[in-house]
Amino acid sequence: MKFFLFSDYHYTPGGYINFGFDGLHKFQRIAEEKGCDMMLHLGDLCHNPIKYIDFIDEYNNFHIPSYNCLGNHDTEQYPREEVIKAYRMPDFHYNLDIGGYRFVIINTSYYRDTQTGEFVPYFRTNYFGQPERETLPPEELEWIKESIESSPYPCILCSHSSFERYYDCKNGHQVRAIIDEANKKKPHSVLMCMNGHMHKDHISIINNVIYYDVTSSTFDCAGCPPMPPHDKFNKEDYENYKNAGYMICPDAPLYSVVTLEGTTVTIEGCEPTTMHCGIGHKELGMEEYDKMGRKYEPFTQSAKITLG
Ligand SMILES: [Fe+2]
Repeated sequence: MKFFLFSDYHYTPGGYINFGFDGLHKFQRIAEEKGCDMMLHLGDLCHNPIKYIDFIDEYNNFHIPSYNCLGNHDTEQYPREEVIKAYRMPDFHYNLDIGGYRFVIINTSYYRDTQTGEFVPYFRTNYFGQPERETLPPEELEWIKESIESSPYPCILCSHSSFERYYDCKNGHQVRAIIDEANKKKPHSVLMCMNGHMHKDHISIINNVIYYDVTSSTFDCAGCPPMPPHDKFNKEDYENYKNAGYMICPDAPLYSVVTLEGTTVTIEGCEPTTMHCGIGHKELGMEEYDKMGRKYEPFTQSAKITLG
């Protein structure tokens, strides 16, 4: 089976520089041309899916089934119950059996309140400054385990935050332990984990499982207030998008096309583009590499991996 993959589209008219409907239509054309069985977005599709329901409907109404996963910004304006309704998601987390594979769509938008021990779903900015952001409740860990164990198909785990980066999902190590245990009992129970959120393109293999850090289609952060915004873009960028000075952007939206055949995963990256106005972190005098040594590039890599 084959699917079109993208993440962190961050559709916010007037907020973040964006490819809007044109970018989505371009993706839909590519998905058609490549013969994709579905489109999948890994979270932060839109900062206000209720207000911009026309854009969400454009995604959901496409003839190729199109799915989403909850990201931290999706609930920036409305509670998650309303957000998943707008996205037409069956639940906050759910399984998707398609083309002989199970996609386990996980919701990492919880923080653990260190005072009460309670797991709190994200709403607006309630998770800002929380030491245990992106922490899965025990019930969801149990659900992940059951989803894998009960699956008649090899599983692909999909989430907004990463189980592979040591500082992202705070109990990502518990998810990896569940995966490793399942694969020990039954090889190839889980083939791959895919995440968004970090806006970097990277592929690693740990214990015979692919961990795919999926980049943002539209931008990477270049600071935030109270830091002064940069002034390297065009005048109209700042007039049209209030966060333009805190972004670096590719000149075309980024994506990849993934094919699954048995235990072979083929990732077809997109054509390289340029950075908007030639500006990347380096040109802004900022550190280019994150804590994992990954940088934002205006392309996505290709790979063909057969898990033995
Ligand atoms: Fe995010």
